[in-house]
Amino acid sequence: MARFLAWADLHNEFWGKLPGIPETCLDVDALLLGGDINTKGRHLDDALLLWHELQRPVILVRGNHEFYKSVMPDLLAEEQIRLAEMNAAGADIRILDGGSTIVGDTRIVGATLWTDLDLYPGMFRPAREVVQASMNDFSQIRSKQGKHLSIDDWLEFHWKDRDAIHNELLKPFDGKTMVMTHHIAVRDMIHPLREVGAPERYVSNAGFASDIWWQFSKFDITAWFSGHSHDNRSAVKRNDFGETRFLSNSRGYPKEGCDFDPSFIIDTHMDHDLEYCGYPEKS
Ligand SMILES: [Fe+2]
Ligand SMILES: [Fe+2]
Repeated sequence: MARFLAWADLHNEFWGKLPGIPETCLDVDALLLGGDINTKGRHLDDALLLWHELQRPVILVRGNHEFYKSVMPDLLAEEQIRLAEMNAAGADIRILDGGSTIVGDTRIVGATLWTDLDLYPGMFRPAREVVQASMNDFSQIRSKQGKHLSIDDWLEFHWKDRDAIHNELLKPFDGKTMVMTHHIAVRDMIHPLREVGAPERYVSNAGFASDIWWQFSKFDITAWFSGHSHDNRSAVKRNDFGETRFLSNSRGYPKEGCDFDPSFIIDTHMDHDLEYCGYPEKS
């Protein structure tokens, strides 16, 4: 069996303080961090602090904010060195970047994901323009020295991550499978209040989510954990294997008032028709 404490969007670059791990959650098998943990490489420092507290694997995907105020390849190179040092010293911090890791009998496949800008049929071009004009990622992230992140970089990263997750899921695995991404994978996770009015008004949602169940419904995925929108919704999709639970649990920004649950547990061995611990169904 495997039980995971699952947090996303800790945004410690704003809070300056990590949530405490509730005593009732100290027996989990691992901590999942769904991205936007901190900036300038400090996500690793936070992961190390949490590893010290929990003494169990800390498994994370990077969000878009991990790259803020950094040059992407420089951040990744430094991250690789520091991660190796931390783990050589006894920590167990695992970063998923299109690969998978195993805890108990559960495989976790993960990557940042980004989005395909194709959330609403026929709206790709407006989505591309609106997302490029409205999201801070393009001014805050440098994809290489002297070059800001572009919308083409964004799409390239999305397809690379999406293909990697798909290819990883194609590998046979005798156990439960979970997916963790920072960006959202199904439209059902967009809050209805974010889809009020004409599509032109809310096409920016394509910067938060893609709708890729059609591609991934052929897999037996117990749960898909994501962050990014800070909306903390859940959704269920059904296929021949039963159900896939789409879940989120973001702390968000200070004063944003997110419905963050520091005790949010994903248990991959609960029967599909039973309630997960944490949030009740909202859709
Ligand atoms: Fe976030
Ligand atoms: Fe984000």
